[in-house]
Amino acid sequence: MQILAGKHLVLGLSGGIACYKSAELVRLLAKAGASVQVVMTEAAEQFITPVTMQALSGRAVYGSQWDAREANNMAHINLSREADAVLIAPCSADFLARLAQGRCDELLSLLCLARPIERVPLLLAPAMNREMWAHPATQRNLAQVARDGAAVLGVGCGEQACGETGDGRMLEPAEIMEELAAFFTPKLLAGEQVLITAGPTFEAIDPVRGITNLSSGKMGFAIARAARQAGAEVTLVSGPVHLPTPRGVRRIPVDSARKMLETVTSQAQKASIFIATAAVADWRPASSAEHKIKKDGSGQVPTLAFVENPDILASVAASARAQSGQLYCVGFAAESENLLEHAAAKRARKGVPLLVGNIGPDTFGQDDNALLLVDAGGHRELPRASKIELARQLVADIAARLRHTRGA
Ligand code: C5P
Repeated sequence: MQILAGKHLVLGLSGGIACYKSAELVRLLAKAGASVQVVMTEAAEQFITPVTMQALSGRAVYGSQWDAREANNMAHINLSREADAVLIAPCSADFLARLAQGRCDELLSLLCLARPIERVPLLLAPAMNREMWAHPATQRNLAQVARDGAAVLGVGCGEQACGETGDGRMLEPAEIMEELAAFFTPKLLAGEQVLITAGPTFEAIDPVRGITNLSSGKMGFAIARAARQAGAEVTLVSGPVHLPTPRGVRRIPVDSARKMLETVTSQAQKASIFIATAAVADWRPASSAEHKIKKDGSGQVPTLAFVENPDILASVAASARAQSGQLYCVGFAAESENLLEHAAAKRARKGVPLLVGNIGPDTFGQDDNALLLVDAGGHRELPRASKIELARQLVADIAARLRHTRGA
């Protein structure tokens, strides 16, 4: 969440049970290096105390437009001028209605109206009962505030405090953090359709056994997340890994290399960028037994014959779409030595403009990594950093290459 470091947010709480989640949100924002000024409506103070929010944010909470602490008595002006964004979480149905009408008879709606609209964005995390959410008046108000320039972060679906189940829950604090990070990320890949492979493949020997590898999928998932934050529509074709799907990313789970190839081939028809991070098994058992191969007690072990798997990256790179420049292909190489030499050779063999090399044992399962970007003209190192940070740098690098290739 480096992108939020140094940002100053006004966090507005309106009345709703979801106020308890905002306490956690303040902690996450502080951890990400952002400073937070909490402003609460009278209704919000029924759900959580200003004392809690002050302790977590390290700043006295504001609740009244008549607050005498401000020398000029203009809290609505002062608070909104110094913010990088105003986030209302939770945004109640009533507060939404106030925003839609431009009402300003209490501090929070007053500062929303008084903020410099071009410079200080307004983000809303609505929270309400599902009937209130679905009501035409609420939907009308949402459309109105969006037209007026607010970014509506959406709602979660599930059990509600009232006992009903449906849409209208406030997003979880971690989801709001992800949306904030995406909001502040430059949209370098706006309009791009990015297709990514990640994780290992699983090649069945019989219904209960198979051959796989130690790829965790972390690098591919980080790239999917960074690409989505940069404004791309992202499809992630993933082998079996235990990682949550990044918010806003379409995930297609696959197991074998052949299934991955089939899925990637059809998805590549509409993609503009293909990034192959998957650790695809080089070989698979020549045949997969229909039933579990049994130990018969004789001490004899089964003999496995192997055949080579299709090369997904090479096959996509050779497609008409890639050859005509409509699809930009990026490969990865996990090596254990002579990284530059192997990566350069692999780039030529796969027929891709950019190949990203890394040292296998240094990356598998780790949260950080170091990358070597190899193209026709030379190479560039991305020094050791977290995988999400490297993913952001790689996304920026690919965006620059695309601009150059397209002559923009
Ligand atoms: O040949 P090698 O496995 O080292 O190549 C690595 C690169 O090629 C990675 O980008 C990987 O995702 C891709 N690959 C593939 N299909 C294979 C083997 C590798 O797409 N069968």
